[in-house]
Amino acid sequence: AAVGKGNYRHFMEKELHEHPVVLGDTLRQHIDPATRAVALPPLPFDPAAVPKITFSACGSAYLAAQVGRYWIEQVARIPVDSDVASELRYRDPPLPEGGAALLVSQSGETADTLAALRLLRKRGQHVLSVVNVAESTMDRESDGTLLTIAGPEIGVASTKAFTAQLAVLAALALGFGRARGTLSAAEEARLTAALLEVPGHAATLLEGGEEIQALAAEVALARDVLFLGRGSLYPIALEGALKLKELSYIHAEGYAAGEMKHGPIALIDQDVPVIALCPSGPLFEKTASNLQEAAARGGRIMAFTDAAGAPALRRFAERVVTLPTVDPFVAPILHAIPVQLLAYHVAVLKGTDVDQPRNLAKAVTVE
Ligand code: G6P
Repeated sequence: AAVGKGNYRHFMEKELHEHPVVLGDTLRQHIDPATRAVALPPLPFDPAAVPKITFSACGSAYLAAQVGRYWIEQVARIPVDSDVASELRYRDPPLPEGGAALLVSQSGETADTLAALRLLRKRGQHVLSVVNVAESTMDRESDGTLLTIAGPEIGVASTKAFTAQLAVLAALALGFGRARGTLSAAEEARLTAALLEVPGHAATLLEGGEEIQALAAEVALARDVLFLGRGSLYPIALEGALKLKELSYIHAEGYAAGEMKHGPIALIDQDVPVIALCPSGPLFEKTASNLQEAAARGGRIMAFTDAAGAPALRRFAERVVTLPTVDPFVAPILHAIPVQLLAYHVAVLKGTDVDQPRNLAKAVTVE
């Protein structure tokens, strides 16, 4: 059946509002509701023995994979390499025997990702894919598939499929951590509970939104925007910049907060809003001090944080958007939603074609 927009103005707006349901459905697929423990289907490799995992994907799916890399390294202590598929396929990296490959794709049809899949397979890697479309080419050609339950995504710029990819990768990291004994039972229970709370927090976040609209009105006036984040929030900063570029045609760059002093700080002035993803947690102080440096040079800091982080940031930030408080492990999933909302509202203000930005395609099936 054809998918409609319902009462929404754009497919993207509708799909943004599907976050709570999609995250819930996707998590239920990989977490047993009775035991509240991660329950993965049989995998094409043994996570306890795998020497290395190679991640590859394109676009937003690649940035989801980057977050997955932080999680799997942190929680399961498995070495992970990752690269965009158009590079990986020609880079021809050395791969260990018995290694694994993990491909991430909404459509399951992206030409470069498919080529990377075939290359990794030919090199003897056990191929696992995270895809949203069952029976897609990548699903069929993989040794194992973990499905995101995002439903059809019509808006060209990914929203709910991206966060669903994050949900699967987070569950995978926890499952791997248990298999490898790198995660204590108590830690696993705590992080799984944090993950299960995400759909509810996503709903809370979508109910508000006035602050993000106000922020969008300012961002819409900018020519250049800088997004900063650290650790697992760094790929979300990249995603924020990608979304803003794609939808509003405003030039935006994502940077690791600690790397700002090695270049982008030269750009900082009143005209370049700095959007910071800065939840409380072990990296908070470090990121906050990078932001303070930018503020001291006249930068206008617009920060996304939580209740614990807000007071410190208010001392120098022009705007502080307070998101629900969550465990730092799941913060990238929750921060992904407001950066998508921001890009959406900026695009609406600029009058661009939100669901079908110029020159972009939903699935790029040519190289
Ligand atoms: C296109 C879309 C992006 C998407 C990328 C990868 O560029 O515009 O939103 O992230 O392809 O697509 P996939 O289907 O492999 O996730």
